[in-house]
Amino acid sequence: MHKTLTETAPAAALSEEILWRDLAHAKAGAWLPELQQIVVQRLERHRRDRKCQLYADLLASLPALQAEHLCLDADRVEIGLDSQISEAHKEELQLALFGLRPWRKGPFRIFGIDLDTEWVSWLKWQRLQPHLAPLRGRKVLDVGSSCGYYLFRMHSQNPALLLGLEPYATFYYQFRFLAALAARERLHTLPLKFEELPPMPGFFDTIFHMGVLYHVRSPLETLTALRNTLRRGGELVLETLVIPGDEDVALTPRARYAKMNNVFFLPTVKCLECWLERTGFTHIRCVDVTRTTAAEQRRTAWIQTESLADFLHPDDPLLTIEGYPAPRRALMLAQVK
Ligand SMILES: C[S@@+](CC[C@H](N)C(=O)[O-])C[C@H]1O[C@@H](n2cnc3c(N)ncnc32)[C@H](O)[C@@H]1O
Repeated sequence: MHKTLTETAPAAALSEEILWRDLAHAKAGAWLPELQQIVVQRLERHRRDRKCQLYADLLASLPALQAEHLCLDADRVEIGLDSQISEAHKEELQLALFGLRPWRKGPFRIFGIDLDTEWVSWLKWQRLQPHLAPLRGRKVLDVGSSCGYYLFRMHSQNPALLLGLEPYATFYYQFRFLAALAARERLHTLPLKFEELPPMPGFFDTIFHMGVLYHVRSPLETLTALRNTLRRGGELVLETLVIPGDEDVALTPRARYAKMNNVFFLPTVKCLECWLERTGFTHIRCVDVTRTTAAEQRRTAWIQTESLADFLHPDDPLLTIEGYPAPRRALMLAQVK
């Protein structure tokens, strides 16, 4: 989809006021004031945090660019054209983007700057997209939305509302930065964990929960809360790390898994189906299981940290460095009963 923007896209265009207006439009429930209070408190905390302040300054320093070209539903999401900005502006932009590293999810081309992220995220989108209920007119929540790559991809389907949740400040400000340049309507991210939201019963039509469940200490509680946040018949898109096997079992790593110290449960697909059934979902389908390889996750100039090759066993790529089954991810779809 190619679009032309005629208006400028200042960072302020994505202020919280627009979010509250969009939520009110989307018939938010009595929970809206509580959510506003939680967000205001979180942003207040950001204002006292040096790193967040640095990111906010980067955002404020954005030149008032007029993106004449947007191609959001492309494997490499494009915002703005090279030919549109001066060399000086491009250098400024490149420095600002570099200041927001590590860039994990993408790739993007921003006014001609190729942002080659750690993950080749379109591979997952290609595996998932043919199975999704159409997003047109839907209220969509993306839990763990990172810099917003999938939110941008979804935008072309014209949903009624796209809301991301990203608690990690660097990724939250990456989204704010890109969204300010793209200036799309009804597209927002909150700097919160899903578990920090007030109850929003039956509000969303589709919830994406991808790459997050293994970080959660009580996965059944989270699945129950996800069900309660969806309307009846609404769709959950769940993607998480799984282990091979046909039994109803889950692995809890002793300490680290692939060097991560915040991984708690890795179920088999059968166990995941059982969790979904027991938390009130129906029409449960596993549409894909893929082992993660270096074709999908690798070190690039846009991350300053380790990547997949550093997490795998040096003698056996089918094992993590700790000796657990190497990362493989299942994509599940389910509906609320
Ligand atoms: C592995 S990344 C997955 C990103 C993206 N959803 C994807 O599938 O590529 C997990 C993201 O979820 C965020 N996250 C972790 N726990 C979360 C929670 N409880 N609620 C919302 N986001 C969370 C992290 O900050 C991180 O950006």
